[in-house]
Amino acid sequence: MSSQHLDSPSALDYPQAPSLTPQAVFTPDWLEGREALDARSRSHTLTGLAADWLASRAGPHRILDLGCGTGSNLRFLAPRLPGPQHWRLIDHDPGLLALARHQAARLRDGGGERLSVETCCRDLAPVDHALLDNVDLVAASALFDLVSRSWAEILIRTCAKRRQAMLFTLSVDGDWGFLNADGERLDDGEDTAVRTLFQTHQLRDKGLGQALGGEAPAVLTTLLKDVGYRAQGAATPWYLSPGEDEMLPLAKTLVDGWFAAALDQAPSEKGRLLRWRERRLAELERGELGITVGHLDLLALPPLTEEAQ
Ligand SMILES: C[S@@+](CC[C@H](N)C(=O)[O-])C[C@H]1O[C@@H](n2cnc3c(N)ncnc32)[C@H](O)[C@@H]1O
Repeated sequence: MSSQHLDSPSALDYPQAPSLTPQAVFTPDWLEGREALDARSRSHTLTGLAADWLASRAGPHRILDLGCGTGSNLRFLAPRLPGPQHWRLIDHDPGLLALARHQAARLRDGGGERLSVETCCRDLAPVDHALLDNVDLVAASALFDLVSRSWAEILIRTCAKRRQAMLFTLSVDGDWGFLNADGERLDDGEDTAVRTLFQTHQLRDKGLGQALGGEAPAVLTTLLKDVGYRAQGAATPWYLSPGEDEMLPLAKTLVDGWFAAALDQAPSEKGRLLRWRERRLAELERGELGITVGHLDLLALPPLTEEAQ
């Protein structure tokens, strides 16, 4: 475990969670590696609109973060949203939750005040109505590719009944590719073949039914409109530039992950996939390639009541 952001990492145990679906387990290193990239990719416009919506209501502002991991979403949002804030963090991984709680102690809200934070270690399925009680804003980051359409539908309908705002950020849209120094796409036939295998692999069940994978942004947009919400989306792709040394480990992890998923999907293609991986990793190492990964942020606000119109 990387301990870069921790005050006293040696004092923190990292409990293992043996019964979790393996495809739904995320290491602290991976989550930490992507946090800066997530933060620079996210939509400040949608964050600001969420802040305005909360500010128009009486506090304390109660925010739920689904699949919180180590608390990246909390760290991004807390200082940008008005206080006072009460956060409810949910994840099925006790180790990630312990890290989230530990780091939350140092955070401040938009008014410079400490946060109130509760953590809840549990599975997200089935959608638990009690966990959604007493919440104003339901947030989730990098979660919806893992969930099924029916899970998302039940969640969104439940939130809509409570007139809660929803801020679902960094949902992958299934697209990724390589860039040259001018930021132009460089995909060739081999990239397309690997990406197609990867996209199919993404649809596998991660414990919440058949996963939405790259369909998540489109499905969420439809479901939010179906419940009459005012939904706004913003493209929030990751861009890793060629030669961006501090991002090289993450870029290599991405290529390894795409390779592993494609191999799992088509074991008979092993030789071809290995050649693709070796070539793309070498080009990344030489600083010749950048990477982009498509994402969408979505903010959905309840319909205006007649008095407010
Ligand atoms: C890609 S990570 C994103 C973490 C965090 N939101 C972030 O942006 O860094 C997905 C998170 O969802 C959690 N998760 C996945 N499936 C879950 C389930 N069925 N129940 C509860 N948490 C789950 C994982 O433990 C992980 O922390």
